[in-house]
Amino acid sequence: MQGLAWWQRGVVYQVYPRSFQDTNGDGIGDLQGVRRRLDHLVRLGVDAVWLSPIYPSPMADFGYDVADYCGVDPIFGSLQDFDRLIDDAHARGLKLILDFVPNHTSEAHPWFAESRSGRPSPKRDWYIWRDPAPDGGPPNNWMSNFGGSAWTFDPASGQYYHHAFLEQQPDLNWRSPELRAAMAEVMRFWLDRGVDGFRVDVIWHLIKDAEFRDNPPNSAFTPDQPDIARLLQVHSADQEEVLDVIREMRAVVDDYQDRVLIGEIYLPVERLVAYYGPELSGVHLPFNFQLILAPWNASAIARLIDEYERALPPGGWPNWVLGNHDQKRIASRIGAAQARVAAMLLLTLRGTPTIYYGDEIGLADVFVPHELAQDPWEKNEPGHGRDPARTPMPWDDTPTGGFTTGRPWLPLNDTRALNVAAQEADPRSMLRLHRALLALRRSHPALAAGAYEGERTEGEVLAFRRRLGDEELLVALNLSPNPAEIDLGRTAETLLSTHLDRSGPEPAGRLRLRADEGLVLRL
Ligand code: NOJ
Ligand code: CA
Repeated sequence: MQGLAWWQRGVVYQVYPRSFQDTNGDGIGDLQGVRRRLDHLVRLGVDAVWLSPIYPSPMADFGYDVADYCGVDPIFGSLQDFDRLIDDAHARGLKLILDFVPNHTSEAHPWFAESRSGRPSPKRDWYIWRDPAPDGGPPNNWMSNFGGSAWTFDPASGQYYHHAFLEQQPDLNWRSPELRAAMAEVMRFWLDRGVDGFRVDVIWHLIKDAEFRDNPPNSAFTPDQPDIARLLQVHSADQEEVLDVIREMRAVVDDYQDRVLIGEIYLPVERLVAYYGPELSGVHLPFNFQLILAPWNASAIARLIDEYERALPPGGWPNWVLGNHDQKRIASRIGAAQARVAAMLLLTLRGTPTIYYGDEIGLADVFVPHELAQDPWEKNEPGHGRDPARTPMPWDDTPTGGFTTGRPWLPLNDTRALNVAAQEADPRSMLRLHRALLALRRSHPALAAGAYEGERTEGEVLAFRRRLGDEELLVALNLSPNPAEIDLGRTAETLLSTHLDRSGPEPAGRLRLRADEGLVLRL
């Protein structure tokens, strides 16, 4: 694995700080809590922690509305707590990746107050202000990702400001050189403090059409989709010039040693790979969300892996994601049994995997009654909210799961049925499976660094090889609840089963897989 950077070899684990560990009884997770639980991550075997936003924020979008890019919200602790967290993480060999939210600030950010103070403000063009349409309405038809227009009228100046998300999240104007310089300073502030990189929020949104043309309607829209899907986001995002902005960000990161730039990008593969940038000058890892969006069957997944592998630019490093704080959890999407198979897939594909907290124990979405809803999206567009995938981590079987001594900000799952402590004790648990997979990845460089070769799918069995030097591994995943067989041709040795009850030599010929079973074999 020589020659690979840590972010190529390693595995990223996403912590949603509000929901990881509370230490002061206010029901909300905090940085001290993350520190206290670092050893869980070390035992798990991941390499890096990505923290969702911890900056001072009115929390209209739970930290994705930043009021100060260079601080820590008192809910989470202090800058000193943050420094301690980095030190503790580094002492354990863990990297720390921050969420960077450059597309918009909170309306409470002092920059926005200045910008809003009137047209002559020197920061007026740090945000996106436009005159009303001739009829007095919004400047164009763009919609907010959380429903309604993406424009809010400011009576004092007679102009509208743009917000791709909540009206409390005004979009910054990345065409302003001063704004760009200020944001580069922000990045340096954290890089100087020792962060190992950034996950950049909605990076494909940073530049909008210079002429603010209307987005075209989406003919495939169906009423079960959120409002935003009524239009194709042709002019409001994914503009070619965004790659210049990203090149600048990348240059800032490259001034430091061994840091990583990850971009959050929801785009079809052919556009996604553009974010590696010309000559790989873009993000190191444009998040690949295809496993979240694809139907769970062998041929669809085999096809998408092949397409992705083929689309990568020379030297572009792949990555895979099964879940995050914006998506239904994997265990709820495909069920508990298949979630184990999905874990094996995630951790044996070629490229950097990202694990969402809780997925290592098979946590499912938790029902959140309407009156307890927190997510502003849920309040605007009921049914689309993300609270069910953001519930507190159940560490033990007490009612509040060892997460808090107070009242948790979101309800927990039935902790008696599912918690970390119980899975520690159960040799065949999902947690043990994750540890085994991560250990296997470490001890078999073919998994982290080897070539990928897809096999022809047989029924619902997805199979591929990973090869490095003279080591050749076969991964065979039964994506169905029925037993299955594939042709093995030669003898092989099972290294790991998702059922954690099988290893050793397999006879040549047909390889049998039980229902919902995945195997890693050495050929
Ligand atoms: C993407 C983040 O992941 C999501 O949680 C947030 O609401 C939006 N960007 C806006 O920042
Ligand atoms: Ca707390």
